[in-house]
Amino acid sequence: MADEWQEAFDHAITVANKAGELIRTALQNEIKITTKSSSVDLVTQTDQRVEKIIISSVKEKFPEHCLIGEESVAAGQPCVFTDNPTWIIDPVDGTTNFVHGFPFVAVSIGFAVNKQLEFGVVYSCLEDKMYTGRKGKGAFCNGEKLQVSDVTDINKSMIISEHGCDRDKEKVTKIFSTMKKILCIPVHGLRGSGTAATNMCLVASGAVEAFFEIGIHCWDIAAGAVIVTEAGGVLLDVDGGPFDLMSRRMVSANNRAIADRIIKEIDVFTVERDDAPRQKK
Ligand code: IPD
Repeated sequence: MADEWQEAFDHAITVANKAGELIRTALQNEIKITTKSSSVDLVTQTDQRVEKIIISSVKEKFPEHCLIGEESVAAGQPCVFTDNPTWIIDPVDGTTNFVHGFPFVAVSIGFAVNKQLEFGVVYSCLEDKMYTGRKGKGAFCNGEKLQVSDVTDINKSMIISEHGCDRDKEKVTKIFSTMKKILCIPVHGLRGSGTAATNMCLVASGAVEAFFEIGIHCWDIAAGAVIVTEAGGVLLDVDGGPFDLMSRRMVSANNRAIADRIIKEIDVFTVERDDAPRQKK
């Protein structure tokens, strides 16, 4: 049977490469920053420009497909996830890194049909690492097959978490209390690259055992979700229930034992879902 989504997958890789090239060039020029939800939620002209380029090329090639893009949603477009073929795009995952020249920035493109993720492409463009995952066909980095680590003992694990860009004191307290509890299990170390998409690829590569966060968005993790599961990993909600792409809560891990041990320590707090109806301004 012909592979229905091969053309879309190939296009995602082509456009991610092009986006990465633009990001690398933009890093050499002056970066114009504005803010979104708060003074630490940054956006640059590059985020907006790269998203426009990705969206227009997808629309041109697949006019019937739907799109959810970080900057389009920030500009007021609704985040509606339907059964239609849908591209879920973060043009610059790790915007704060990009602004500071911290060398982890990724282009993240996920693709879902009937709300099931079919493929994910994460281009860590400063490292020139192209991560891909396709449902049922495995996950790869620059053509090399990825496999999660086989560590089951939490005391031998390395974990990634992030604090995101919400500075609400109660949430920050819970985030750091969770990190402290996990660090003191003890685990070998806690890390964070500043891009959720790259963090998930690090789980898929076996460099860390898990990455969890409350407050991420669907565009940060859609592509990485396919890459982690295709590399043999698991995705769960932070309460141990099924993973929900729109919930803004996720634990990705090499196996269920590691995920469950982390989940025990997570101080959960409430965040608004990505697909929550938005107030008109
Ligand atoms: C952010 C990064 C970061 C994560 C934040 C995200 P952005 O995405 O993925 O690692 O901690 O929650 O919002 O804003 O750089 O696209």
